[in-house]
Amino acid sequence: MSLLQTIDIRRNYGNLAVLKGIDLTIKPGEVVSIVGASGAGKTTLLQILGTLDRPDAGELRIADQNVFALNDRQLAKFRNERIGFVFQFNNLLPEFTALENVCLPGFISGKDEGAVRQRATELLEKLSLQDRMKNLPSQLSGGEQQRVAVARALINQPAIVFADEPSGNLDSRNAEDLHQLFFQLRDELGQTFIIVTHNEALAALADRTVTIRDGLLFN
Ligand SMILES: Nc1ncnc2c1ncn2[C@@H]1O[C@H](COP(=O)(O)OP(=O)(O)O)[C@@H](O)[C@H]1O
Ligand SMILES: [Mg+2]
Repeated sequence: MSLLQTIDIRRNYGNLAVLKGIDLTIKPGEVVSIVGASGAGKTTLLQILGTLDRPDAGELRIADQNVFALNDRQLAKFRNERIGFVFQFNNLLPEFTALENVCLPGFISGKDEGAVRQRATELLEKLSLQDRMKNLPSQLSGGEQQRVAVARALINQPAIVFADEPSGNLDSRNAEDLHQLFFQLRDELGQTFIIVTHNEALAALADRTVTIRDGLLFN
């Protein structure tokens, strides 16, 4: 059984062919790292897998949904409900507290506000942020900010979480802690992760590493 499957994904920018036929299958509960040189197309691929961008050709199935058959409105709903993101820079909203940032995707999905707050609180506790919930992002350390971003990614119980160089902006201690957190969440929640990384230690910890080179993926 696969959770995510791509068939011959292609993406060009003008006459630059960045993705030349990507075939990738991900099983539930896998932690897969994607590595490759700068400019190889890692972010381009992750944006497509995360449904933030559409390919020029090819198919993507996530949890039995043929996602690019959806129109933009349906796709936005699917993304909100089924996909979580962690970016290199946390992308937290600066005027909202940690708790509010975590709640937002839940509110957008139309879930009961009390239930969203309850789950956000539990997630923040699980990520050792129980004393930082009322703080603004600017009042948190880089490592804490990324843990808030992880909680936000998990609020709607996504099928899959995509992370694009999530520890790229952290010191080595915090990077290691963040990596341990991904595996803890996989073990405790069965959460599936696809992680683009430059960090060889994280890539080595993953269940599987795939390399993108010349527009193709290699195992
Ligand atoms: N929006 C865009 N328009 C034109 N070229 C782009 C765009 N985004 C990325 N590229 C180019 O596509 C290639 C792959 O970029 P990217 O996916 O960001 O690589 P990586 O994340 O592996 O460093 C690079 O040559 C980059 O310059
Ligand atoms: Mg990139």
